[in-house]
Amino acid sequence: MKLQAVKGTHDILPDEQARRRQVLDAVERVLERAGARAITPPMFEYSEVFDKSVGESADLVVQKEMYTFEDRGGRQLTLRPEFTAGVLRAFIEHGMHTLPSPVKLWSTGPLFRAENVQRGRYREFQQVNLEIVGLPHALADAEAIQLMYAALTACGLRNHHIRLGSVGDPEDRASYNAYLREQLGPRSGDLSEASQERLRLNPMRVLDSKSDGDQALLAGLKRPFDMLGEAARAHFDEVRRYLDAWQVPYEVDPAIVRGLDYYRRTAFEAHYQGIGAQSALGGGGRYDGLIERLGGPALPGVGWAFGLERVLDALEQEGAAPGADARPALFLVPLDDEAVAEITTWAIELRGRYRVEHAYQPRNPGKGLREADRSGAAFAALRGSQERDQGVVQVKHLASGRQAAVAPSELGAFLDRELAEGLGA
Ligand code: HAM
Repeated sequence: MKLQAVKGTHDILPDEQARRRQVLDAVERVLERAGARAITPPMFEYSEVFDKSVGESADLVVQKEMYTFEDRGGRQLTLRPEFTAGVLRAFIEHGMHTLPSPVKLWSTGPLFRAENVQRGRYREFQQVNLEIVGLPHALADAEAIQLMYAALTACGLRNHHIRLGSVGDPEDRASYNAYLREQLGPRSGDLSEASQERLRLNPMRVLDSKSDGDQALLAGLKRPFDMLGEAARAHFDEVRRYLDAWQVPYEVDPAIVRGLDYYRRTAFEAHYQGIGAQSALGGGGRYDGLIERLGGPALPGVGWAFGLERVLDALEQEGAAPGADARPALFLVPLDDEAVAEITTWAIELRGRYRVEHAYQPRNPGKGLREADRSGAAFAALRGSQERDQGVVQVKHLASGRQAAVAPSELGAFLDRELAEGLGA
């Protein structure tokens, strides 16, 4: 058998690394400036951590999407399918409730779900995740949404949009679920198999069905949003007032139902047209009660996560240029043996500030310049006996062909000046 990567996993190739890093750097800046601190929970946890948090009707459970295995001591472990459960377990374990409130924690790294693979839906993928713990007020929901929008904007996206809804308080959900059971129960035989299971476990999730038949049965029925209690409705209105005041664009979506059970009240998603059927870049919401369920204090929380691969796909659709740091600033070409030793010394010095590459053997100028071109460098510098006699290197701006003789000790200052003028781009 030919060895290949497992279906639904990807090698992140060198060409993709710079864009990923750029996105993560941009997001880190937005989140850290808002007071969030990084936390990295382990890649696997006792299965209970996820079993207790995601809920028995979550897709992760119903569709058996968790990678669960037994270790040698006979304990059930699960590869993390999301961050929220592990981050909150860590929050409780390290007594972070004593920190000034709210506690904002952000994470990034790989996650694992045994999904049906398609564009935007993989078995190993990466999220950026934020949790804001400790505030029951709508202000925290609004801040979370604002930060999600700002983080996606900082990645370089232009055409993302936020959908905002509410799944209500537990009693609103209970009455909506009772309503759906009443409406759909008599016709449940006409529902898809997955939706019949959802109707049994958490009827609200039927709304998320991709089946046309299911959607036809739902047409004309009320949405969770139409049955919100007074408190949840007031909370929702307040979230909107903040977002309006901050001019965060969003649209109200009365049919938002999330794939995880722990949400209450505010639920939101960020979407993007043009990345296939999986148009959700990210999603989140409020999850009061979850920390208690995991054995911690009765603290409220709100958070979100977006999928890095989907954001990168969207950026590609927008034709965003890859980062300039993916390319060397300078490619040094030795024209004789003595120059090999010289240019390697300069390269090591210049690498304190710039990406610098070089040929490893003497080249003739034509071949050296072609090599420099292929590396994508902004500048090439040639050094041979003639340059040595004059105490310089011949520097060439590869895009324009413009040349200059520069003293080796001045190369750093030369690059500072030239690249500041945007010639590196
Ligand atoms: P989620 O909606 O399950 O929420 O995932 C959030 C995002 O992760 C999705 O919108 C999508 O972009 C990405 N994603 C999920 N599954 C896959 C997959 N199989 N392949 C590629 N991308 C995927 C959560 O995970 C919640 N923990 C978010 C949250 C944080 N809620 C409160 N705090």
